[in-house]
Amino acid sequence: MARASRPQIVIGAMFMLALFLIAVYISGRASFREQMDRFADSSRIAATSAILAAGDPPRLDTIDRVAAAMPVPDDGAVFLLDVAERKIIKAHGPQALISATTFETVPPDGRHEDPDGTGRAYGSAVDPTGRWKLVIGLPRRLAWETLTPMFERNVFNAGWWYLLSVGALWWFVSRWLKSVRTLEQIAARVTAGDLSTPPLQPMASRELDAMQQSMVDMITRVRELQRQVVRQERLAAIGVLVSGVAHEINNPLQAILGFSQVMSARPDLPAEARADLAVIQRESERAGTIIRNLSRFTRQQPAGPTSIRLTDTVSWLSEMWRRRFEENAILFELSDRSTKTAHAVATEIQQVALNFLTNAEYAVLNNPSRNAVRHIVLRTLDTPDGRVRLEVEDSGPGVSPEHEANLFQPFFTTKPVGEGTGLGLSVSYGIIQSHGGAIGHDAGSLGGARFYFEIPAESP
Ligand SMILES: Nc1ncnc2c1ncn2[C@@H]1O[C@H](COP(=O)(O)OP(=O)(O)OP(=O)(O)O)[C@@H](O)[C@H]1O
Ligand SMILES: [Mg+2]
Repeated sequence: MARASRPQIVIGAMFMLALFLIAVYISGRASFREQMDRFADSSRIAATSAILAAGDPPRLDTIDRVAAAMPVPDDGAVFLLDVAERKIIKAHGPQALISATTFETVPPDGRHEDPDGTGRAYGSAVDPTGRWKLVIGLPRRLAWETLTPMFERNVFNAGWWYLLSVGALWWFVSRWLKSVRTLEQIAARVTAGDLSTPPLQPMASRELDAMQQSMVDMITRVRELQRQVVRQERLAAIGVLVSGVAHEINNPLQAILGFSQVMSARPDLPAEARADLAVIQRESERAGTIIRNLSRFTRQQPAGPTSIRLTDTVSWLSEMWRRRFEENAILFELSDRSTKTAHAVATEIQQVALNFLTNAEYAVLNNPSRNAVRHIVLRTLDTPDGRVRLEVEDSGPGVSPEHEANLFQPFFTTKPVGEGTGLGLSVSYGIIQSHGGAIGHDAGSLGGARFYFEIPAESP
């Protein structure tokens, strides 16, 4: 597209050149005519002064002498007429003209094309008695000779201006085309599937610059959306897989659990076998919990959002967990200061908080530094920018830097095989995203990790 425009510039320049030449021709013609009229005036003035010089009353021989002495140029013409007798008394000038001219055909004042093929500007004067008339004609050649230098100078100057303006036009159009071509290339890259941010190029105008910027913004946005779609697709695929597997595992698991319960009810069972059965039951229950979590992860239609307070979530959790923490000698602290409501799905928010607490518990119980205090703080608050925030902080070992990038990936776990599914945080991530919030972690003040989420509060 951009290249096809170059011939258009050439055509434009030629068109301008044609206009320029036409303007030169028209103005030249007009100046020439003006000059000829001026010569006609000069001829009239010369004739008048010749007649005045001949005295009063004028004498023919004097008029003739004065006229003959006048500096008429080559190709000029002078006629002395006897008006009363209607005849030419004297004529100077080219032979062809004189022989072709009679009293009747002596040209009147003004510009004329004469019979000898030469244009002349005529002017005349009649003596006070009205008897004699002196007619002087100056040739066209003189007008050309006086006009040409001026004309050449003007054409030369105008030519320069023309070249300058064509050059400027070329420069502007080229710059503009270059910018448009850059935009075209950006669009082509996107069409070809390249969503990397293109380097910003200088543009020919502010409007084009703004356009480039918005194209770059658009690419960034599309890239984000693409990433989201990829992530969602991956999660969806995992979801389908997982729900199938969960279903298949749940049935045999229920059978194992059921039969082991039936067996342990038998009174004749040796104590050793009973202890083994307890292990079978405990592990089967754990497997059941994992499967329930997985089903929750793949649940298609969650209960709809309502207006909730974090306090409700937290009190539910702390009731459930306080005893458990006590049993494990974990110091549990609750700082519940959020008062605002948020439009959210209560069970989902509970699930995220629960995941945080489970992870924190695991972190403090499995802290490699043996004598470390086991300390967990659950905190809620309203942020100054209109969000409600929940955070769980622990005195565990913290998140090691090499794991940071993967924490929220499905199935990422650092727990020993069989202990964790690695789904807790990825499910939480999905939940908080769907609430338009943010989830993250940093180093807390207890020496371990602090996981938090924030979701928009409802306006009061
Ligand atoms: N409070 C924490 N302190 C240190 N590391 C943590 C903490 N919470 C999460 N992590 C790290 O993030 C990983 C992923 O957590 P996530 O909850 O997704 O899965 P998981 O806890 O390993 O498995 P599951 O939740 O199924 O038991 C954990 O394995 C752990 O390495
Ligand atoms: Mg977890």
